[in-house]
Amino acid sequence: MKKQILCATTACALSLLVACAPQTEQPKESQLLKYEDKITEIISQMTLEEKVNMLHGKNMFSSAGVERLGIPDIEYADGPFGIREEMEPHSWNSLGLANDSATFFPTGSALAATWSEEMAYEYGKGMAKEARLRGKDMILGPAINIQRIPTGGRTYEYLSEDPQLSAALSVKYTQGVQDNGVAVCLKHYALNNQENDRGSIDVKVSERAMHELYLPPFEAAVREADAYGVMAAYNKVEGYWCSENDLLLNKILRDMWGFHGIVISDWGGVHSTVGAAMNGLDVEMPGNQYMGEALLDSVKAGVVPESVIDSKVRNLLRVRLAIQPIPKEEANKVMTAQPEQRDIAYRVASKSIVLLKNEGELLPILPGKYKKIAVIGDNAIREQAQGGVGAGVKALNEITPLEGIQSKLQGVEIKWAQGYRNFTREDRYKRISPYQEADKKLMAEAVQLAKESDLVIFIAGNNREVETEGSDRVSITLPMGQDELAKALAEANPNLVTVLVSGAPTDLRVVKEVSPAILVSWFNGSEGGNALADVLSGTISPSGKLPFTYPVKLEDNQAYSLNVYPQITEEEREDIFVNLVNRKDARERKSPTAEYSEGIFVGYRWFENKQIPVAYPFGHGLSYTTFEYADLQLTPVTEGFEVSLQISNTGQFDAEEVVQLYIGRPDSKVERPMKELKAFQRVALKAGESKTVRILVPKDRLRHWDETTHGWAIEAGKADVYVGSSSQDIRLNGSIEI
Ligand code: GLC
Repeated sequence: MKKQILCATTACALSLLVACAPQTEQPKESQLLKYEDKITEIISQMTLEEKVNMLHGKNMFSSAGVERLGIPDIEYADGPFGIREEMEPHSWNSLGLANDSATFFPTGSALAATWSEEMAYEYGKGMAKEARLRGKDMILGPAINIQRIPTGGRTYEYLSEDPQLSAALSVKYTQGVQDNGVAVCLKHYALNNQENDRGSIDVKVSERAMHELYLPPFEAAVREADAYGVMAAYNKVEGYWCSENDLLLNKILRDMWGFHGIVISDWGGVHSTVGAAMNGLDVEMPGNQYMGEALLDSVKAGVVPESVIDSKVRNLLRVRLAIQPIPKEEANKVMTAQPEQRDIAYRVASKSIVLLKNEGELLPILPGKYKKIAVIGDNAIREQAQGGVGAGVKALNEITPLEGIQSKLQGVEIKWAQGYRNFTREDRYKRISPYQEADKKLMAEAVQLAKESDLVIFIAGNNREVETEGSDRVSITLPMGQDELAKALAEANPNLVTVLVSGAPTDLRVVKEVSPAILVSWFNGSEGGNALADVLSGTISPSGKLPFTYPVKLEDNQAYSLNVYPQITEEEREDIFVNLVNRKDARERKSPTAEYSEGIFVGYRWFENKQIPVAYPFGHGLSYTTFEYADLQLTPVTEGFEVSLQISNTGQFDAEEVVQLYIGRPDSKVERPMKELKAFQRVALKAGESKTVRILVPKDRLRHWDETTHGWAIEAGKADVYVGSSSQDIRLNGSIEI
């Protein structure tokens, strides 16, 4: 039920002056600035060689300190959702230690699907606890690029298509890590939104889209959470490599945002000595091709001033002195994965699962409702921790969907059939496409089991070889013939629940037609199978919300619609791959350009403004209960405006809801999306319970980037406020005068 609340202009007028000059509020004092005098003293004792020796890799995952002065090395560790196993010092090979199996936390889009700042903080805390056991100083995460394309190889690693959701969770992840004694390294700065040609692509993006869409997660984590590290991305932005990009690394990161930490390159992502040194890079990882001897020579030749070297050393010493070093003999003495962290992994996973549809009350699987359950799918038995290159986790344990279902669903007969073949790393190396016909024998076995069962749980989706760093998918079709299998299963048994084990959108046109119930259970960490089973059985109600849009079809996505992605077709790539192998034209192949022609219209902003129907909208997620929204009040306050409303659980299940707040500017003089997410709040409600929800919308959330003044501005005028359960399920609205 929608209630139109129009505040009287006088009562609700926000006394906001139009901020026309680019305002950069003074960032909060960084923890890194506590050591300036001591650092000055240390630098005064250092030789030039010792200084330069700090500015490049020592091992694969460490950079040097100053042994003579008792300053320890800095130890880095992948990845964003689990502390990577110990590697050989100068190779990508594992050391095969006994104590370095870690907790596998739910991947990025799963964390984002919780829409919970509390969970993001806990997540960061858990990562830090395990990093400390391993003697690590800086985690190479969170990975917080915007999910611009569904096919992006790292879309699953990132958080959301929306900058506000990404920013809010990046802040809390960063605080959780750094409050527990470890540094973050925000990555990949910036505009690394595709994996294809990531090491050569040149991103062309409008100033406004860069500042309003792609930079906010990095800006928020630096300005609100005092992030200590940033990783320069592999790609170029507007013609300059990110590892030597004066605009990104000096003018924006340090001058506008007040960053005092270190900028490290992505691994192998440096392209020059003087360019990198003079444009903001502090550390070359993992080698020393550019920031070792070559840099020393450049200083001695007077090309790079020693003062530039000193400022880099200062940045490194700030982080080194802020993070307690752990002596080598104390690292890796205790098993990395600990029960406290598994509990965090469970809580995140249990709040991440999204119920897309539930027709005919097929779910939850309450006791006695079904006698025989068929669990179909290779993903039912597949562990998802490994894979994805730098984002792989040697997990101490991982509960698969089938294990979770078998342990949690009592009193039912559960049988499994593989249904479809697993897509493996060998398939990738042999360049076998994952988009192949269903395996007839496996399908027949699965159909037979479905016929003999009361309920079919089809564990579908991708895996960590289909969605991975290093290459983008060429399609969002469910792999290994799953659509054909879904149809066959539905014909055999209409009681079909489909569970999507995936991190990025997939094409649901077939599944949506044949499956009365659909859930997204992500690549959901060490406890993913238990969380899934608790949701399926009704022990907990699903409460996740989509952090991205499920398009009806891939071609509806903005980058595909505007034909600005892919830049190189698969046929051309095949040709280049062959030629590259023949080294025939490797040097002539120019960097492809990624035109971000859609500007600020990414994800739901695009679909809404173009009125393109979607399969499931941003922010969508059902519950086993129902919620009623009422009594919206908008009150101007000094910091911006406060929103309050009543929310009630009007069903039979205890559950949690994520209240979402969007703003639209119908009379704006600049082009804008129909509405933009500006705030959200997760709230727990017992069956029948009501609560008042209060949300503050700070005035800087109302800013937009003015390309004439090259700065932020807040435009006076009417703002429509939409409050609801998803971007397309608005329950209350009102408006205020800004
Ligand atoms: C990789 C990734 C980065 C990772 C680094 C170290 O290529 O781009 O995310 O942290 O190298 O493994």
